[in-house]
Amino acid sequence: MCTLNRDCDESAIIREAADLLRAGELVAFPTETVYGLGANALQPSAVAKIFAAKGRPSRNPLIVHVLTTSLARDLVTAWPDTAARLAEAFWPGPLTLVLPRTRAIPDIVTGGSNTVGLRVPAHPVARKIIALADLPIAAPSANRSNAISPTRAEHVLADLKGRIPLIVDGGPTNNVESTVIDLSAGLPRLLRPGPISTDVLKEVLGAEPTMAEGSVPIPEDAPLPSPGQLRVHYAPSTPSVMLPADEADALVAKLSASGKVVARLTSRSTEPCSPMTVALLPHWQDWQERLYDALHMLDELGADIIVVDEPPRNPQWAAVYDRLKRACARGVPW
Ligand code: TXA
Ligand code: MG
Repeated sequence: MCTLNRDCDESAIIREAADLLRAGELVAFPTETVYGLGANALQPSAVAKIFAAKGRPSRNPLIVHVLTTSLARDLVTAWPDTAARLAEAFWPGPLTLVLPRTRAIPDIVTGGSNTVGLRVPAHPVARKIIALADLPIAAPSANRSNAISPTRAEHVLADLKGRIPLIVDGGPTNNVESTVIDLSAGLPRLLRPGPISTDVLKEVLGAEPTMAEGSVPIPEDAPLPSPGQLRVHYAPSTPSVMLPADEADALVAKLSASGKVVARLTSRSTEPCSPMTVALLPHWQDWQERLYDALHMLDELGADIIVVDEPPRNPQWAAVYDRLKRACARGVPW
């Protein structure tokens, strides 16, 4: 691992990252959402290493990262007006557009689907690496499959140590994963809520995107529409529950009294029962920016349970609600 801002020469580490990518190897790097695990999207043997390092099911498609809208257009067979408007408004940035792919994109990237997810990232380190590699880069979040997405190089190291040759440490990142919108079949469809909320999308599209159904059963051999549709995803290893704040208070009091070690994620300024609390501001932006960092921190405490305040149900909180719902989907074994 190398720290860009402290003990490394930035241009040397970016050169090393680009060289590794061009040689078909994996590199973890920061984006403006979470750390990504990149490979040359045009080389199936390189992309296969992503699935191996993550332990990711092969039918779960990857997002391809490119530097510009025009490079994204080169990889798709259709560029509807909705794509043009969304790209103009939000690229570079945390938005992924799913569109029909050209044959340049190998099957392994898309899990067999005829569409490809494309994103133009904004993070300067990601952009420098992609520019120097001069390749489209397939990059999922740089965590083992089903674990919490990494927002620090240390999180990547803890999860993927020994499995990848380089982690470019660009400091902490601060968001949940990109908003994913499917434009491949008529009306825009939201596959994963993210930093760009539906009310902001509506301003550009003129209407809210339709919602992908969260719990549609997926046939075993079909490509996944989006793992945003898998119930358990992004989960801490500590059993976690999400409850309205008053019920969460009561549960914390009860469990603490029975000797359980309880960790708490809350917006409450005073939290009387649990000493192991991360308190975030009662605003969606603070939760969105600090959610994964907080979950990593709480997970590392080795508590018996993490009790989380349930966020409001509205478009601004949708990405946080979605990630928390999945983080808590395994339930509590006792
Ligand atoms: O912010 C992000 O999107 C981060 C950074 C690294 O860019 N990446 C990320 O990748 O979260 P990953 O693999 O963890 O999630 C990719 C999401 C999944 O929900 C996947 O199903 C969806 O994008 N996706 C990608 N390609 C797709 C496609 N062709 N059709 C439908 N969904 C697709
Ligand atoms: Mg992921």
